[in-house]
Amino acid sequence: MSLTRLNIQAFRNITSAQLLTGTGLNLIYGQNGSGKTSILEAIYFLGMGRSFRSHLSQRVINNEDDKLTLFATLTLPRGESKIGLRRFRSGETEVKIDGDKVKRLSTLAETLPIQVITPESFSLLFEGPKSRRQFIDWGAFHADPEFYGAWVNVRRILKQRNQLLRDGASYTNIQYWDREFVRYAERVTEIRNLYVDSLNELLKGIIEEFLPQVDVKVSFTRGWDSKIDFALLLENQYPRDLATGHTVSGPHKADLRLRVGNLPVQDALSRGQLKLLVCALRIAQGKLLKQQIDKHSIYLVDDLPSELDAQHRQLLLKQLADTGAQVFVTAIEPAAIVDSLDKPPSRIFQVAQGCVTVIE
Ligand SMILES: Nc1ncnc2c1ncn2[C@@H]1O[C@H](COP(=O)(O)OP(=O)(O)O)[C@@H](O)[C@H]1O
Ligand SMILES: [Mg+2]
Repeated sequence: MSLTRLNIQAFRNITSAQLLTGTGLNLIYGQNGSGKTSILEAIYFLGMGRSFRSHLSQRVINNEDDKLTLFATLTLPRGESKIGLRRFRSGETEVKIDGDKVKRLSTLAETLPIQVITPESFSLLFEGPKSRRQFIDWGAFHADPEFYGAWVNVRRILKQRNQLLRDGASYTNIQYWDREFVRYAERVTEIRNLYVDSLNELLKGIIEEFLPQVDVKVSFTRGWDSKIDFALLLENQYPRDLATGHTVSGPHKADLRLRVGNLPVQDALSRGQLKLLVCALRIAQGKLLKQQIDKHSIYLVDDLPSELDAQHRQLLLKQLADTGAQVFVTAIEPAAIVDSLDKPPSRIFQVAQGCVTVIE
């Protein structure tokens, strides 16, 4: 799957642009503040209905406008598809796929799976478990059609359960919800666990190439002690849950553990190595998606050259090419990318003050 045409209107500093994109590597270059990241952000916004930079979606609308419009032509195995998204300053979003209005934003994510790697992607390794859980869930969502429903139910019941805890409900009252909670939690956990196992198979090879001689271990933790039956644990933990006013253990505490020996990766690796590790995770995830459901992801790599020496830029670009997917990379200087490739990029775009031109 790939984008063949992308239209951007009133997105950040891009008032209007059309990119006829290539199937392989698309290089976007330009000076600081020209609009490179905004182009990647626009592609992401089209696939996810939100930004990877700001959780305030209003901010991406051009300051002079009251709505943004994104439009793309996709080439899918079943033929061509057109997707469009319009976002109004009022907060309203309109999504259309082949002319039909779509209600659920997750429909977009199914149509356009995206892997994004930015200099901020380090947060995947540094920050709390939320972003790592999202990483697992992205894969689980695509890998198993049952995941989304089970996960929605976990969230719904958890909210109700926590409300009951805050209201000081007796365990008999909570137990009624726990039967359902346990069932969905176990399903979500099972899918997540299987997913991380499959991911690890692919990850090994990529990590060996990116970080030879470093023994990185990636494992899944479910959010409660796996040796204890979850229903029993909830019951035993009721006094503590009641005291804190929320459910202390459960699938909402799941995490991906990344370690080198006994150390968390952030204490054992350099910034460049951490960037490569994040890239390895994203590349493995995209490759697994291709294996599992025969769908290509689109890779967005913002500021690819930063933190990486020439040899590692080359390795990373080679791994990205290896996925067979469409890739968008940005850089300030085009040479930083072009010099690390065996063959020229399929398209090169220059961005200057929000204007995009294709370089022949
Ligand atoms: N809502 C907006 N409307 C207009 N301009 C914006 C908006 N949001 C950000 N910008 C501007 O867009 C420019 C491009 O940003 P960015 O895409 O991050 O540049 P680059 O990645 O090329 O360094 C910045 O100068 C920023 O100030
Ligand atoms: Mg940028």
